This record gives sequence, C-alpha cells and structure tokens, in this order.
Amino acid sequence: MYLGKIHAKPDIYLKELKKTLWDTAGFFLLRGWEQLENENIETVNDTMLPEIFRIQAEGFKNERHGDIIKCSKKFRNVFYVIKNQDQVIGYCMYHLKPVFSSRGFEKKSVVYSIAVDNKFRNQGFGKKLLEESIKEMKLNGVLSVLLYVNVNNTHAINLYRKTGFFIVKEVENICGENERCYKMEMKLF
Ligand SMILES: CC(C)(COP(=O)(O)OP(=O)(O)OC[C@H]1O[C@@H](n2cnc3c(N)ncnc32)[C@H](O)[C@@H]1OP(=O)(O)O)[C@@H](O)C(=O)NCCC(=O)NCCS
Repeated sequence: MYLGKIHAKPDIYLKELKKTLWDTAGFFLLRGWEQLENENIETVNDTMLPEIFRIQAEGFKNERHGDIIKCSKKFRNVFYVIKNQDQVIGYCMYHLKPVFSSRGFEKKSVVYSIAVDNKFRNQGFGKKLLEESIKEMKLNGVLSVLLYVNVNNTHAINLYRKTGFFIVKEVENICGENERCYKMEMKLF
C-alpha cells in the first residue's frame, strides 16, 4: 500500500470532522435569526438554484453545486439572492462561526461565496447585496464579517474596500492550491 495514503487519511478525517463541527455550530447560531425586509433581496429557495449554479460557474473556476445545495438547506437564512425584475442576478452566501469572548459565546460570519451575473456587473448590485446582508448580520449581533479574496481579484477587492472591509493579512492555499489571497474583515461592533 502507498504510505502517503496512510498518512494522508487522519488529515482528511480531521478536516471532515472540523467541517462537520463548523456546520453544526453555524446551524445552531442561526436559531431565532431575524430577517430584514428588502425589495430586491431574498433568501434562497430551490427554484432559484439553477440560476445560482449558472452564475457561480460563470464567476469561478470550479463548480460548487454540492456546497450551494448544502448552504441552501442548512444556512438558508444567510444565503441571499438579489433580483432584477424578478430574475436572479446574484447571490451571496455566508457561514456563521462561534467565537468565545469575555462576554461569552458570540458569532462571526464568513462570506462563503459571492457572485453577480456577468451581464449585471459594475452596476452596484454586488455592493447592494453585501451592504444589505451585512445590515442583517448587525441586527443579529454578528461581531464581524470575514472573507478571503484572491490577491489578483482587483474588482472584488475594490468592492470590499468600498463596503468597509480592510485587509487583515495575506495567506496561501485558502482560495486554492498555491494561490495567495487576502483575509479581509469588517467589524460591526
Ligand atoms: C465581485 C463581484 C461580485 C462584484 O459585483 P458587481 O455587481 O460587479 O459589483 P458592484 O457593481 O457593486 O461594484 C463594483 C464596481 O462597480 C462600481 N459601481 C457601484 N455602483 C455602481 C453604479 N450604480 N453604476 C456603475 N458602477 C457602480 C463600484 O464602484 C465598483 O467599481 P470599481 O471596480 O472601480 O471599484 C462580481 O465582479 C463577480 O461576480 N465576480 C466573479 C466572482 C468573484 O470574483 N467573486 C468574489 C470572490 S472573493
């Protein structure tokens, strides 16, 4: 048997365990989540998934249908969709994670993925989606919002800066293998 595989396995199990714990914590943190009314922004439903798959595939190298379906079921309250004349033109999905502070158990959120339909970019939809969803995060006591963005994704970095995010540090292998990205954060309290 190839030894590399034996050594690799505990690593994979550990990653899976961490992912499961993270998902479970996120699920509990969403209990009692309050939603803001917004004209063109809604939370996801199953009928929107084909359009979201298309927009995701257009915006990123790897298709993530599995992740999108999972988030639409477990994290529906923080999976936002923006529409234009009843058509889905963008989405932003978050995860919630617990943090322990002097005040006890609190929550932070992570932008898991955001994309706007190619035909509707540069018209302010991405900014609106971020700003409105972040207002809801604040309403629900989320301490800060984190995200990771490839250092070469100038368009997205500009959007994040304009929305109020700042660069915390540069990291490797988070956005993809051997890729450099910025960890960015916006504090809400
Ligand atoms: C990143 C992304 C979501 C941004 O969405 P968007 O709708 O184009 O973003 P916005 O239009 O709100 O803002 C982007 C630009 O439009 C400008 N803009 C904002 N409102 C505007 C308006 N009403 N009219 C014209 N331009 C406007 C912004 O100032 C910004 O300009 P800049 O790039 O010069 O800084 C989109 O480019 C995308 O889907 N990219 C592919 C996926 C991706 O990279 N996701 C991020 C991964 S971390």
